[in-house]
Amino acid sequence: MLSVSGIETFYGETQALFGVSLEIGRGEVVALLGPNGAGKTTTIRSILGLSPPRRGHIRFEGEEITRLPTHRIARKGISWVPDDRRVFPSLTGARNLRLGTRRTQFRAWCMDEMFGIFSALEHLMRRECENMSGGELQMVAISRALLASPGLVLFDEPSQGLAPNIVQAVMRTIRKLRDEGISVLVVEQNALAALEVSDRIYVMDRGRIEHDGRAQDLLDNPVLRRRLIGV
Ligand SMILES: Nc1ncnc2c1ncn2[C@@H]1O[C@H](COP(=O)(O)OP(=O)(O)OP(=O)(O)O)[C@@H](O)[C@H]1O
Ligand SMILES: [Mg+2]
Repeated sequence: MLSVSGIETFYGETQALFGVSLEIGRGEVVALLGPNGAGKTTTIRSILGLSPPRRGHIRFEGEEITRLPTHRIARKGISWVPDDRRVFPSLTGARNLRLGTRRTQFRAWCMDEMFGIFSALEHLMRRECENMSGGELQMVAISRALLASPGLVLFDEPSQGLAPNIVQAVMRTIRKLRDEGISVLVVEQNALAALEVSDRIYVMDRGRIEHDGRAQDLLDNPVLRRRLIGV
């Protein structure tokens, strides 16, 4: 579904990614782990064309998307759940969701399915996003990502700052996406939660991929796990 090969991304003259490569299969959940400043968000920004890589290639379903403008990348079926949610604060939940709704070649989702995933969402439809809690905003941000009919969803720290029951709902949503054949890249500080929903993981440090392997191998091997992700 997605193939990132040897990308080098810069902020001005400062290089943030040094030859990052990763693959995500159809319906596969891949976790991208690593310490603060490792380059996880920059990898997502590179895929979305928000920080286009200076070198290397990104392909989505075999088609080169490197350096396409972000709106064209999004329309091909890549959705984003940003770490800072990025909703329109003065618009209601319903308005934000309507603006995000889009048809692609991939599975379309409807509002009723969103209410099925997040039971509290229905009550947020008429409220302005500036009056929502962090967890409520996250429900809107995830729903918006799904209503855009993605083939691939990029989650940047989806459980950050959320109560345990909402973290559970987020992880259930990721499993549901996988069951529907939709691919997921999830950046997560809560590494154990990420391992439990992921098929494979990549561990980054200082702009490089330092390890890749099966999530189950880290769940089974506490020594390796502690060395790679410190939990
Ligand atoms: N807008 C920016 N301008 C300059 N440097 C940046 C910018 N954004 C990120 N960086 C630098 O790029 C490197 C990678 O940052 P990035 O945000 O990708 O890390 P991260 O793995 O997402 O970290 P965190 O876990 O803290 O979110 C860091 O050294 C960071 O300081
Ligand atoms: Mg980040």
